Amino acid sequence: MTQSEEMSQLKQEALVDINEAQDEKALQDVKVKYLGKKGSVSGLMKHMKELSNEEKPAYGQKVNELRETIKSEIASRQEVLANEQLEAQLREEKIDVTLPSREISLGAKHPLTRTIEEIEDLFLGLGYEIVEGFEVEHDHYNFEALNLPKSHPARDMQDSFYITDEILMRTHTSPVQARTLEKRNGQGPVKIICPGKVYRRDSDDATHSHQFTQIEGLVVAENIRMSDLKGTLELLAKELFGADREIRLRPSYFPFTEPSVEVDVSCFKCKGEGCNVCKHTGWIEVLGSGMVHPNVLEMAGFDSEKYTGFAFGLGPDRIAMLKYGIEDIRHFYTNDMRFLEQFKSVEDRGEAEC
Ligand code: DAH
Repeated sequence: MTQSEEMSQLKQEALVDINEAQDEKALQDVKVKYLGKKGSVSGLMKHMKELSNEEKPAYGQKVNELRETIKSEIASRQEVLANEQLEAQLREEKIDVTLPSREISLGAKHPLTRTIEEIEDLFLGLGYEIVEGFEVEHDHYNFEALNLPKSHPARDMQDSFYITDEILMRTHTSPVQARTLEKRNGQGPVKIICPGKVYRRDSDDATHSHQFTQIEGLVVAENIRMSDLKGTLELLAKELFGADREIRLRPSYFPFTEPSVEVDVSCFKCKGEGCNVCKHTGWIEVLGSGMVHPNVLEMAGFDSEKYTGFAFGLGPDRIAMLKYGIEDIRHFYTNDMRFLEQFKSVEDRGEAEC
């Protein structure tokens, strides 16, 4: 084979290889194969020594021309490959602007949150402060400072989750009474409510949950009387269940209040006639309350001769169940979207769906 035949064969081979390279990497390999230091084009130079001095420049020039041709073929193949890749990418990332958009669903306030906020609003308007206590509490604040010493039989009223002998999950929000009074150093007036979670060792069923919510209320000042308690709770009942509601107080027992009362509200559904909501009594029990026991005041450093007060504890779970006709307390805690979504419409209208 003459040198020029060899050269043109090399050129043909190179062109075929270049066109067959399907990606950047393959093209790079072709480049090394032909133009690299030990590549085929460099290999052609070995013939130089067989040539006369007159022939050498022309031969050298031809090899250079071949090198340039291959170089420029590689460059244009590179461009073709880059374009193909871009097009493939564009095809893949194509956006169909005619597709319907994804639905953005708006959340709704949890019925418990809604009920708690409604009660908070009322009491903020009456000049109360909102305070928060601890869910993990000392036996001292949960019981002893509330007139419930270790041996007290009323401790059995609240089955507790103890963490150590002295620490437990609070069984009610009442420890906030003791903590707040202690902080005020015997100085009234105190007007607080405390919403929060509480825990009891209960088997869960439609009306019981081992975790639920309470709102504690406490007012301590000079000359606070039972009639102040009654007026406040009447306002609360009307706010929650309608302006024509009435309340009644029944004697009861709580260690931290004396006297203690249980508060019923006239049935908002049957207006006192008797129905399934009020179990045909015309009244619904909604909270416990009473006048703060002098022992509670004294233990927290308040002079019980000078100061009197009232306290109450209510359960937003029960109130929300009554207001929204929810038949199972577990719905509040299982977070089933179908349950929660029902409250969107209530929120939109800003009223209860009784
Ligand atoms: N702590 C009581 C309970 O969980 C509820 C309660 C009753 C709170 C009377 C009070 C009160 O502040 O005065 O059963």
